[in-house]
Amino acid sequence: MIDALRSNEADLYALVESFFKERFSTDNALITEAVRRMLAAGGKRLRPRMTLLAAAACSGDPVEHLQLAAYMELIHVATLIHDDVVDNAQTRRGVNATAVDFGNRVSVLAGDYLFAWIFKNVTAGYPHPVPNILSATLADICDGEVLQLRALGDLNHSLDDYVEVARKKTASLFAASAACGAIVGGGDRATIDALRSFGELFGIAFQMNDDLLDMTGDARTLGKPVGNDLTERKMTVPVVLALRDGGAAFRETFARFYAGTDNGALPAMVEAIDVAGGMRATRATLATFVERSKEALKPLPESAAKHQLNALADALIPRE
Ligand code: IPE
Ligand code: IPE
Ligand code: MG
Ligand code: MG
Repeated sequence: MIDALRSNEADLYALVESFFKERFSTDNALITEAVRRMLAAGGKRLRPRMTLLAAAACSGDPVEHLQLAAYMELIHVATLIHDDVVDNAQTRRGVNATAVDFGNRVSVLAGDYLFAWIFKNVTAGYPHPVPNILSATLADICDGEVLQLRALGDLNHSLDDYVEVARKKTASLFAASAACGAIVGGGDRATIDALRSFGELFGIAFQMNDDLLDMTGDARTLGKPVGNDLTERKMTVPVVLALRDGGAAFRETFARFYAGTDNGALPAMVEAIDVAGGMRATRATLATFVERSKEALKPLPESAAKHQLNALADALIPRE
């Protein structure tokens, strides 16, 4: 049976899903329900995918690491539950955000509980440095989210500042997912570093693409609101680059919009960002991170898993 699973990637992910359905449970019925609901709503499952592919790229057997992969998704889900409270977002994965159905108070506590539940299991089941990497990642995510909040509406937020926030709030979990997969897969130090680096560069490009989708995507397809970043006055990458390249007139228009003194409609602002070159510059910058992520994988021997990691990175390039 294991051999059949090994040769069939779809079955591997079905096993991760059955872990969520059959084995995820906590002592608290309300928390279990809130988390299961978000797991059942779907999502791209990119972090567990990265863990399993990294393990396979090190010649490990991914079937042995399904549980660790599932923990990566659970960390992600807890951050999403909190993120929607912080960002005032009403929908997630095509359903109500947790706070809409359970309230902010239960959402904050459910996210906290889930983190604690994950760490209880990870510290009991995995040797150093896996628990250490995951703890550092969670610190990075909170750090990144707070840095982002402190930069709301700050028109002097530079591309370097942006990358630092994205590295912490988003890329750290991709880096940890890849690094931990490589560790349990038996990779040597150089391979673990290469995969960690791939995950980090992928994660920065991933956040850039997510920022772009908030302006160009469709709420139904994304399963979450669009335009919310501008409403929340976030310094997303298209905004940062439009301010860098768009000249004084754009800066003035945009300053008024973020100061709340000009109630310009969101579509007009998106259009202004596009005209100022924000979208084009985002696509170009994102492509450099995709290239760098693939560069990081180059020293690894060729394998189906490496090929799939490269394909995941290529898929981040927007089609226009
Ligand atoms: C959303 O992540 C949060 C960000 C880091 C931008 P995903 O886009 O991977 O969310 P799901 O898991 O598919 O719902
Ligand atoms: C998410 O960033 C970062 C997290 C740590 C969850 P966003 O706020 O851009 O993610 P979405 O767009 O709400 O999914
Ligand atoms: Mg958000
Ligand atoms: Mg977003």
